[in-house]
Amino acid sequence: MRNRRAALAAIATAASLALTLTACGQDSEGGSEEGKGSTEGATIGIAMPTKSSERWIADGDNVVAHLKEKGYKTKLVFGEDDPDQQVSQIENLITQGVKALIVAAIDNKSMNNVLQQAKDADIPVISYDRLILGTENVDYYASFDNEKVGELQATYIVEKLGLKDGSKKGPFNIELFAGSNDDNNTRYFFQGAMNVLQPYIDKKQLVVRSGQTELTQVTTLRWDGGTAQKRMDDILTSSYKSERVDAVLSPYDGISIGILSALKSDDYGSKSKPLPIVTGQDAEVASVKSIIADEQSMTVYKDTRELAKVASNMVDAVLNDKKPEVNDEKTYDNGSKVVPAYLLEPVSVDKSNYQKVVVDSGYIKESDLK
Ligand code: GAL
Repeated sequence: MRNRRAALAAIATAASLALTLTACGQDSEGGSEEGKGSTEGATIGIAMPTKSSERWIADGDNVVAHLKEKGYKTKLVFGEDDPDQQVSQIENLITQGVKALIVAAIDNKSMNNVLQQAKDADIPVISYDRLILGTENVDYYASFDNEKVGELQATYIVEKLGLKDGSKKGPFNIELFAGSNDDNNTRYFFQGAMNVLQPYIDKKQLVVRSGQTELTQVTTLRWDGGTAQKRMDDILTSSYKSERVDAVLSPYDGISIGILSALKSDDYGSKSKPLPIVTGQDAEVASVKSIIADEQSMTVYKDTRELAKVASNMVDAVLNDKKPEVNDEKTYDNGSKVVPAYLLEPVSVDKSNYQKVVVDSGYIKESDLK
């Protein structure tokens, strides 16, 4: 089948060369149009994990927009955080004859069988944001520098507590939250954060009063805010009778909002009991509002418009038998192979720079923050 693609690409190259020759002065356009004839009008399947978070809805819309711009048709599905549902959605996309798949997996280990079906049908697969594990049948990975996300969150904590510049010695109380255990990003976020926090924990400048420091103890199934709220409630009840929590490592805005609800129910945020530093990720509207209101402390902004562009370009390149642009060919080993990746840069955002980073860039409309 790769041969078929190559043959089609060759025909298309000849066609585009002819076009270039007739439309003089359009060399650069001619180059980017190379191979288009083979994929013009092809349908690309896009499987997103859930509509419960605004980022995935925007991711889906942005991928569709980029692919349409390149002349593709699209079929976009959302798995509603149910791994079985997502797998059957992908099976349907394959049956419907999509020419490539872009998948943000719910359970990174649940894709083996369905991606074998994709492989058998010569459908290339782009792993979107979250790395799919345990299968060779993943062609490329588009994501952010996930370890850096955790580093940014933890660095914010040690800076704001005054530990980083040594102006304060502590000890400060901290609690740790991580994402869903079936999402490969979770361990990268947590590892990045712990690289920064562990030395302070070892020196007892940071104390985890709950004693829950292992990843397996701090994950939050499906990134659910309610689950995080309940865990924070339990920790406050069991470990903070007279003590106060000074910082909470939260990997994602939806979890941060849950943590903040638990804290506020325990009277944090009142004059005598200030809220701790609470981190986050995704620059969701609710969390940027919370940052403006001095509740959540920071978030990590990831320009998902760029991610959508990278993934769409990967599809376009693969379908035209070109090598997509990658910038990391060593970090993301999925257990079966090292998946070539293009990683974008995450950005730390708090009250001091949200306007410039998320509003002026057009990521969030000013009016949505009112
Ligand atoms: C992760 C993603 C985060 C966040 C989280 C919850 O995989 O990298 O940015 O969106 O899922 O949806």
